Amino acid sequence: PPLDEILNLHDFEAIARQVMPEKAWAYYSSAADDEITNRENHAAYHRIWFRPQVLVDVTKVDWSTTILGHKSSMPLYITATALGKLGHPDGELNLTRAAAKHGVIQMIPTLASCSLDEIIDAAQPGQVQFLQLYVNKDRNITKRIVQHAEKRGIKGLFITVDAPQLGRREKDMRMKFTADDPSEVTKSGDKVDRSQGAARAISSFIDPGLQWSDLDWFKSITKMPLILKGVQRWEDALKAYDLGMAGVVLSNHGGRQLDFARSGIEVLAEVVSKLGEKRGLKFPNEKFQLFVDGGVRRATDVLKAVALGATAVGVGRPFLYAFSSYGTEGVEKALQILHDEFEMNMRLLGARSIKDIGPDMVDASNISSH
Ligand code: FNR
Repeated sequence: PPLDEILNLHDFEAIARQVMPEKAWAYYSSAADDEITNRENHAAYHRIWFRPQVLVDVTKVDWSTTILGHKSSMPLYITATALGKLGHPDGELNLTRAAAKHGVIQMIPTLASCSLDEIIDAAQPGQVQFLQLYVNKDRNITKRIVQHAEKRGIKGLFITVDAPQLGRREKDMRMKFTADDPSEVTKSGDKVDRSQGAARAISSFIDPGLQWSDLDWFKSITKMPLILKGVQRWEDALKAYDLGMAGVVLSNHGGRQLDFARSGIEVLAEVVSKLGEKRGLKFPNEKFQLFVDGGVRRATDVLKAVALGATAVGVGRPFLYAFSSYGTEGVEKALQILHDEFEMNMRLLGARSIKDIGPDMVDASNISSH
C-alpha cells in the first residue's frame, strides 16, 4: 500500500511481514525462547493510564527535549539494531537521513551493516549520533572503535550489558546465515558459525567476562558520556550511578535476551523509587539519565515513560520495518506519525511542554508497587 495509507507504527510491521525476505523478517522480529518478554514489553504500557488536566491553554505545545545535553525534537531516539542491510540495501543510512530530517538522535550499532564511518559521513553537520558498543574480548579492538568514534564526533557511548551470550531466537536460528548476507562484520573474514541464524553468526566476539571493574578502563580511554544499555534491576542502576555513569537504559534488548525479563517501564518505576530513596535523586535530571526501550509503538507509550521519570525512550523494530518496506521515506513517515501523535496527545493531556509531563499525569498503580 502507498505510504499515505499508513496510520500508525503497527501498520509498518504488518506490511514488512508480507514484503520482507523471510530471513530478514526472522532476524528482525524474533525474540528469545517463547517471546513472552517481547509481548510483555508492549503489554506493560497497557497497565498505565492517564490523568489529563483540563482547561489549560494548549494552543502551542512543545514536546522537544534534551538527551545527554543534546537537543531532540521528541523524547525518543532511534535505538541500535544490527544488520540494517538485511531489510534494505541502504541499511542504517535510511535511519541517519530520516533522523536528520526530524531532528532526532540515532544510536549506531557496533554490528551495523554499513561501516561506522559511512554512517557518520551520511549525517548532516551538527547531527547528533550515539554509538552502541559490544565489548570485544580483544580490548585493543574496542579501544580503537571507541577512540575513533569520539574523534569523529559521536556524543555518547552505550555499552550493552545484557548480552554476554546471545539469547535463543529460534525463528532466526532456523534460518542459515549465508556468506552472501550483506554485512561488514562477516566480510571481515572472521571465522563465524553460519549454521544457526544471523544473530549467532555475528556475535561470537562479545566478551562474556565483562564486569563492573572494567568500567574505569572505559573512563580512561574516552571522555564521551558512558551509559549502560540493558540494566534490569535497581541495584545495578545504583551501581552505575555510583560509578559515575551518565545514565542507564532500562531494557531487555527487545525481548531478545533473557525471556521473562521484566519490561523496561516496569523496571523504570522501581529504579526511580529506589534511587530516590537511596540517593535522593529526582528524575529526570541532567546528571544521571534514565532511558527505556522495548515495545514503544505510540507517542502515548513515550509520554508514560517520561511521566515516570525517563529522559527519553528508544524505538527499534518499527523503524526497521519502515525502511524494509519503504526505505528512508518509511522512516520519515514513522517519525512524522509520532510527531503528530505527540502534538495531539500533549493537547489532550493539558501539557504545554515536556516539563508538564510528571508523575501526576499517570495512574501507574498497576505497575509501581515498589
Ligand atoms: C536489537 N537490539 C540491539 N541492541 C544492542 O545493544 N545491540 C544490537 O546490535 C542490537 N541489535 C538488534 C537487532 C534487532 C533486529 C532488534 C530488533 C533489536 C536491541 C535494541 O537496541 C532495543 O533494545 C530493542 O529493539 C527495543 O525494542 P523494540 O523497540 O524493538 O520493541
